[in-house]
Amino acid sequence: MDLSRFPRRRYTEGATPIEPLPRFSAALAATCPGGRGPEVWIKRDDLLGLSPGGNKTRKLEFLVADALAQGADALVTCGAPQSNHCRITLAAAVKEGLRCRFVIEERVPGSFDEGAGGNHFLFRLLGVESLRVVPAGTDMAAAMRAEADALAAEGRRAYVIPGGGSNALGGLGYVACAQELQQQMFEHGTGFEHVVVGSGSSGTHGGLLAGFLGNRIAIPIIGIGVSRDPAQQAPLVHAEAQAVCDLLGLDLAVPAAAVRCVGGYWQPKYSVPNARMVEAVQMLARTEAILLDPVYTGKVMAGLIGLARDGAFAPGERVLFLHTGGAPSLFAYDSVLLGRGTGLAP
Ligand SMILES: Cc1ncc(COP(=O)(O)O)c(C=O)c1O
Repeated sequence: MDLSRFPRRRYTEGATPIEPLPRFSAALAATCPGGRGPEVWIKRDDLLGLSPGGNKTRKLEFLVADALAQGADALVTCGAPQSNHCRITLAAAVKEGLRCRFVIEERVPGSFDEGAGGNHFLFRLLGVESLRVVPAGTDMAAAMRAEADALAAEGRRAYVIPGGGSNALGGLGYVACAQELQQQMFEHGTGFEHVVVGSGSSGTHGGLLAGFLGNRIAIPIIGIGVSRDPAQQAPLVHAEAQAVCDLLGLDLAVPAAAVRCVGGYWQPKYSVPNARMVEAVQMLARTEAILLDPVYTGKVMAGLIGLARDGAFAPGERVLFLHTGGAPSLFAYDSVLLGRGTGLAP
């Protein structure tokens, strides 16, 4: 598949590393049936560029290139109060000399805190132009269009990036990731039986799936939901994967069976901590000194741990965990991660 026909900015030098997690795998095996578990590896998309980067960096390489091609002088996007997507979009805007505005959805009522740390602190440090807070359930597309219209009235030109950067163009970032991974497996002679990834606005899961299908990579992708159970999440991922395949001009109908979603790890609510997330964040930090985040990758790793304990992976099978970033929001959840109080900071 030829991605070179799509304009792209580059925010990362080279490929993100793939590393084995021997101490984590041993700790996990000790809690699995018969004391045996999978061999867990990690792809470090938390080391992508953009202050600090994560999965949005890959999507923004294509989205920002499109914004520049359209002559935009501002990016407008949306997310939750601790949105990694908003922070990374702002970082891309800074790097390109653009301004950036957010519409923030207060998904958990009362959770927006003007003085919060984590990503909210970084919004201010990186110089967001404006940040409008709206209640849960607001039509975010309409709210972002209103921001763009306000800029147009001032003679400016906004480029609107959907929540999570998850449209067909953004999904190309994870087609590029699939190609990068394929090359790494070829160069290092390392194969995997499973890939585990977070599934939220679905650009990562759907884009990766499109990349696997288009490049004939036959490894199943397991998407752990961070805000929805499979009945709601699978159709979103399927639509995203199909849109990406269509944009690429692949004559391919995404098979429903290729969309594997797992639920049950994100509750009680998107962004609200649970005990399994705390265990996963502590376990990876204390065995491999790698930081997960409380909203996404902590719950996704909790899913991987749960699946291993339920026997979903045969002993010794290689499971690749895609680390999608997000560590800044650890600093908005420090109490709960150290087991003190509830410390809820959604
Ligand atoms: C750190 C992190 N991981 C995973 C996700 C989920 O990715 P997606 O929205 O592409 O499904 C997000 C989304 O914001 C994220 O910030």
